[in-house]
This record gives sequence, structure tokens and C-alpha cells, in this order.
Amino acid sequence: MTASFLGQDYLEIRDLTVDFDGFKAVDGVDLTFQQGRLHFLIGPNGAGKTTVVDALTGLVRGTGRAEFRGRDVLTMKSHKIVRLGIGRTFQTATVFEQLTVLQNLDIAAGLHRRAGHLLFARGKVPERVTEALETIGLTALAGRPAGFLAHGQRQWLEVGMLLVQDASVMFLDETVAGMSSDEREETGDLLKRIMADRTIVVIEHDMEFMRRYADFVTVLHAGRVLAEGTVAEIQADPEVQAVYLGTVTEVAADA
Ligand SMILES: Nc1ncnc2c1ncn2[C@@H]1O[C@H](COP(=O)(O)OP(=O)(O)O)[C@@H](O)[C@H]1O
Ligand SMILES: [Mg+2]
Repeated sequence: MTASFLGQDYLEIRDLTVDFDGFKAVDGVDLTFQQGRLHFLIGPNGAGKTTVVDALTGLVRGTGRAEFRGRDVLTMKSHKIVRLGIGRTFQTATVFEQLTVLQNLDIAAGLHRRAGHLLFARGKVPERVTEALETIGLTALAGRPAGFLAHGQRQWLEVGMLLVQDASVMFLDETVAGMSSDEREETGDLLKRIMADRTIVVIEHDMEFMRRYADFVTVLHAGRVLAEGTVAEIQADPEVQAVYLGTVTEVAADA
């Protein structure tokens, strides 16, 4: 890679293709996700955003290459990919509702430990978990069952679960969808706090959020990269306006 990547993590994807029985949901995509910048992946419903993440986390089979720290993640099983430091959230929340915030974090941290070593058994909270609680702003709610959290807090808990897993690469799939504007702002600030030594990919529909927080944007459309660049470059791109931004404006105007 080029010198600008020296000493920094990056996930380099070349010719990624995901074929569902002849339908190419992802069709020859090249992408480079770099450490230390908030990289937004946008595009209309069905563009292939989630499928890209599924392929990079071992949930669906993709062809091509996706290199991280010298390994091609497309050849790896999902649990090995987690151990390599690549994590993701899902569009539907994955926290255990009956367990407390702290217990959810401890279980996530335990993915790196042997079974039977949870904090209930040990009686002390690992430093990594305490730190994550602080970072996501849920220290005061550590003992609350996750099912009682507000929507935004639950999403932050999911980010915390990636933090305790030591994820160096984080895919956040529509994490701010359904959040209030205050929650969005807090989420943006949270991402800014943790991005310096991480590679963060944000899948998002909210254009206001993108304008405010994106350092770099890739637009997917029909399984291909339609455009890439800064927010200003993306917004000025006539093709992007036609297939995506135009549509969103119309929807917003109707709402
Ligand atoms: N398991 C699957 N089998 C067949 N088609 C799928 C599967 N998963 C996703 N697709 C299709 O692939 C396309 C991309 O989907 P997806 O990656 O979820 O889009 P996005 O996240 O951008 O909204 C859609 O047309 C979707 O219907
Ligand atoms: Mg999706």
C-alpha cells in the first residue's frame, strides 16, 4: 500500500463479490477502510451494504480478497475473524435483555476467555469492562437490565460490546437509525472518541448525521461502488444525487 498507511491498520478489499444463486448482491467491490477516520458506507436499500459486512465477518461467502494484518478474512471462519479484531453490530439488536449492562459486557469480553470465567464466577469486574462502561457513558446504569435501556443506550451497549472484544475494526450497521437527534449527537461524539486507534465503518441513511461526522464516504448502488470521496465530493456528484440523495430528499419532503 501507499506510504500514508504506514504504521496504521487498514482493511483492503479487492474485487469482493457475493453471489446468491446467480444474483450478485455485491459485484466486484474495491474498498479501503483506514484506521483513524469515520468511513460512511451509504446507498439505497438493497445496495449490498449489509452483505459486504456479512462477507467481511464470515457470515456469507464472498470471493475476492479482504486483507487485514496480513490475513485474507474471506478465507476465515467468523470466530477467527472476531479474534483477529474485526467486529460488527447487527441491524437488529443482539443484547441479552434480561441481563444487566455489566453482564452483557462481561459476556462479550468473555469471547476472548474460556467458558466458565464470567464475572459472576470471579466476583470482579475486568478493567476493560469498566473502561468500556465509561466510554459509552453507561457506568451509572451498569446494574440495569439491558431490556430497560432506551433505544440509544442499547446501541451504545452494542458499541461497548465491541470495545471489550478489542475490535480494531468496527462495522456499525444502521446504529443511529431510530435515534433522537440528541442520541445521534452523543453517538457521533462517542465514535469520535474511539476512532483514533480504530477502523470504523458506519452504515447510515441519515444524511444530516453523515454530513456532520463522515471523514470519508463510499456510495454503494446495486452491489457496486458508485462514488467515493469527502462529503462535499459525494454531495456534488450528479450520479449520487440521481440515485440516492435525490430519492432521500423526496422521501423527506413527503414525511
Ligand atoms: N441471504 C440472501 N439470499 C439472497 N439474497 C439476499 C440475501 N441477503 C441479501 N440478499 C439480497 O442482496 C441485496 C443486498 O442486500 P443488503 O446487503 O441487505 O442491502 P442493504 O444492506 O444495502 O440494504 C438485496 O437485493 C437483498 O434482497
Ligand atoms: Mg442493510
